[in-house]
Amino acid sequence: MVNFSIKNISSEDLDEMIKVESKSFSDEVKESEGILLERASVFRDGFLVVKDNNRLVGYISSEIWDSKKIRDTHYAINHSIKDNHTVLGDTLYISSIVVLPECRRNGLGNMLLEGLIEDIKTKYAKVTNAELIVSEGWKNAINLYQRTGFAIQREIIKFFDKENGLIMRKEFY
Ligand SMILES: CC(C)(COP(=O)(O)OP(=O)(O)OC[C@H]1O[C@@H](n2cnc3c(N)ncnc32)[C@H](O)[C@@H]1OP(=O)(O)O)[C@@H](O)C(=O)NCCC(=O)NCCS
Repeated sequence: MVNFSIKNISSEDLDEMIKVESKSFSDEVKESEGILLERASVFRDGFLVVKDNNRLVGYISSEIWDSKKIRDTHYAINHSIKDNHTVLGDTLYISSIVVLPECRRNGLGNMLLEGLIEDIKTKYAKVTNAELIVSEGWKNAINLYQRTGFAIQREIIKFFDKENGLIMRKEFY
C-alpha cells in the first residue's frame, strides 16, 4: 500500500538522498555530494524528504537569504550554503526539489514545496517570500511552481549551459 510521509532529513536518509539526486539530474546540473550533505547539516529545517513507507522517493532543500544582498552569483550550481545563508534573512531560496521518476504526478512535488513553505513561515517569521531559479526548458517544474503561486520575475541568460534561467518568486502575504 502506498503510504507517503514528509519529514526533515536525518542522518539515515543521506545515502538515499544522494542516490535520488544522481538518478534525477544530468551531469551538467547535478550538485556535488559534499554540497548536498552540507545543506542537510547546516539547515535541517529547510531540508525535507518524502518517503513511500521507508523508501526515500524525493526531497526539497533550501536556505535563507537577505534580499538586499542577492546577486546573480548567489544562484550558482554547487554554491556553498555557507556563502549566503542567514536565519535573519527574508527570502527562502529553494535550492533543489526532486521526485523519483516512477513516483511523479502523485502530488509529491506539491506536498514538498507547500510543506516546506508552511514550516518556514511558522519557524522563521522574518521570511516573507520564496525564490528559485529554473531552466526555461523544464516545463514540468515551471508548471509546479506556477501552480503553487510562484511568478517569473526575470531571466539570467544562458545560466544553464545553453538555456536561460528563470528567477521565480512567491510572496507569502
Ligand atoms: C518537478 C518535479 C519535482 C515535480 O514533482 P511531482 O511529484 O511530479 O509533482 P506533482 O505531482 O506535485 O505535480 C504538481 C504540478 O506540477 C506540474 N507537473 C508536474 N509534472 C508535470 C508533467 N509531467 N507535465 C506537466 N505538468 C507537470 C503540474 O502542474 C502538476 O499539477 P497537476 O498534477 O494538478 O496538473 C519532478 O517532475 C522532478 O523531480 N523533476 C526532475 C527534477 C527537476 O526538474 N526539479 C526542478 C529543479 S528547478
